[in-house]
This record gives sequence, C-alpha cells and structure tokens, in this order.
Amino acid sequence: MENTEKKKRILSGIQPTGTFTLGNYIGAVRNWGQLQDEYECLYMIADMHALTVRQVPAELRKRTREAAALLLASGIDPAKSLIFVQSHVPAHAQLAWILNCNTQFGELSRMTQFKDKSAKHSDNINAGLFTYPSLMAADILIYNADLVPVGVDQTQHLELARNVADRFNRSYSPTFTVPGGYTPKLGAKVMSLQEPTKKMSKSDENANSYILMLDDPDTIVRKLKRAVTDSEGIVCADSENKPGITNLMSIYSVFTGNDFAAIEREFSGKGYGDFKMAVAESIIDTLSPIQNEYKRILDDKTYLEQTLKEGAQKASYTASKLLEKVYKKVGFLQF
Ligand code: AMP
Ligand code: TRP
Repeated sequence: MENTEKKKRILSGIQPTGTFTLGNYIGAVRNWGQLQDEYECLYMIADMHALTVRQVPAELRKRTREAAALLLASGIDPAKSLIFVQSHVPAHAQLAWILNCNTQFGELSRMTQFKDKSAKHSDNINAGLFTYPSLMAADILIYNADLVPVGVDQTQHLELARNVADRFNRSYSPTFTVPGGYTPKLGAKVMSLQEPTKKMSKSDENANSYILMLDDPDTIVRKLKRAVTDSEGIVCADSENKPGITNLMSIYSVFTGNDFAAIEREFSGKGYGDFKMAVAESIIDTLSPIQNEYKRILDDKTYLEQTLKEGAQKASYTASKLLEKVYKKVGFLQF
C-alpha cells in the first residue's frame, strides 16, 4: 500500500573532530538510528564546522572517513537515511552567506559556545567561529527540516536557527520550515566522569573524563573505576548532591532500560564498586558490536565512498532546489 502521509524530516550533524564520546553516542548518534523508520532523516558530518578550530588537513580527512564509518556502524542505514559530508554539498555555504546577512552581530555575540571556544582558542578567534551558528542554521533550513535531534549543548544554536528562519519568512515570504528541537528524555547531557558538573567532551584534556566509542573493555573498566562519585556509598539519584552517581545511573538506565527506582533497588546494600562494574559492562555490551562493525566498514573503502557520494548527490538535489528559491527571493539576478 502506498504511503500517502508525508514523513517529517530530520536533519542532524556531528563534527569529525575526534572519536565520538559516549556523550555523542547517547545524546545524539544512538537516537539517530532509532528515528529512521518514523522520519525521513539526513545525517551530516560537519567538516566545515570543524574548520572553525585549527585542523591538520590529513587528520581531518581521516577523521571524516572514521566518523562516517562510526555513524554507519551505529545503525544509520543508507537504505533509509541520507548520510553525507557537509563540504560535499556546496549549497550549505551558499545559504549560510545569505543567512549571515540576516543575522545580527548581537545575536551571535550571545552564543555561549562562541564565548567558551574563543576563551579556549584565544589565538584563533576567527570569523567562522563567530558565524558558526549561521552555517548550522543553513544546514537545517536548506532541507526544510522539521526536527533537529541534538544534545542540550546545541539548543541555543537551534533557537538561533528558528529565529533566523522566522525573520527571513517575515522579511521576504514564507520560505523555511521553522525547525523544532528533539532532545532525548534521558542522556541529553552526559557528564564528565572526572567533573560530573561539566559535560563529557572529546576536547577535554583529561582522557579519564570521557569514554570514547572505540575504547576497549579494559580502558572502559579503568575509566569507570576512576570516575568521581561521593563519599555516601549509596546508589541513589540526586543530581544536586550526587552528580557523579546520578550521571552513571543515567548511562546505565539508557543501556539497560531500567529506570532509576529499579537501579536503586538493584544496588541497594551494594557499594559503588559493584555498581561501577555493572555500568562498565553495560557500556561494553553496547559498544563491542558497534566497534566490530566499525572496523569492517572502515576497511571497505569502496562501500564507504560510494555511500557518501550517493548521500551528497541526493542531498544536493534537495538543497539546490531550495537555494534557487532563496536566490530568487533575495533579488539575485537569474536567467
Ligand atoms: P559535537 O561533538 O559537538 O559535534 O556534538 C555532536 C552531537 O553530540 C550534538 O548533538 C551534541 O549535542 C551531542 N553531544 C555532545 N556531547 C554530549 C554530551 N556530553 N551529552 C549529550 N550529548 C552530547
Ligand atoms: N554544531 C553541531 C555540534 O557541534 C554540529 C552540527 C552542524 C549540527 N550542523 C548541524 C547539528 C545541524 C544539528 C544540525 O554538535
């Protein structure tokens, strides 16, 4: 039977700036695979965004391939979704310019990620870092995406995309879908294992603060053992006073499907040592099959390249149609 109901469209992206962390997986990538049946999905490797901080060219190329392989290994199925590299679809940059001209200096100045990153890379506060959210808005708006599944650290950028879309629609005429956010109920912000009031981030200097999707079982166990908790010794959720334990409970909950009450019952009378081992095991059980699949896909160069090429071709087709509409609306001469 023909499906006459049009599926809603999803777009999301991830930067190829290193192996993804457990935070990337739980907050973003894991959900991407799960959304494929219900939505029309486009998933993008944001190599242009990665250039806002200095990159070694050969590394960036390598990591872009690895990011693609890891996304595919995590369950993104090219038969259902488009997977492509941002720089392969030039319409993103073309639209970004127009959106830049419709975004205010003041709006971009308020972005907390810009403030954080410019403090961290004070020797390279480039214009791209500043206008990064306009490019992200272009990524989303060029496909008229309805929903954008991201972790909470991206909600401010998404809000900006909504504002820009709305402003453009009012200044010219309805053009863009105003996108909604889609944050997972649990795990939208996985915290650092060392400083559980900070988000887990692959750019953290302390490698014990994050788990990478490609970490081997011994490393995962070691990092879990070292995870900062508290001196109470009781496994119960309290994000205010026990952020470390609460963070581990969230991770365990995502991987086992057990809610906090069930986890508290499971570990009542047991110490943090037992709990940490159980969390480590749940992570290993989840990541091992993904790691095997990753190796297989990364070795299959032809498949990987073909998949990314096809993704970019199909994405370009949709994107260029919208770009043409926008070019007309803003007054660019067309023949
Ligand atoms: P990035 O690594 O900044 O490219 O982020 C890619 C995706 O992962 C975005 O949707 C982020 O919101 C999400 N993300 C990154 N770090 C975390 C975290 N610690 N917890 C949950 N989601 C995260
Ligand atoms: N800025 C996002 C991040 O760092 C990655 C990204 C780029 C993105 N373009 C996007 C996410 C469009 C969602 C939609 O995590």
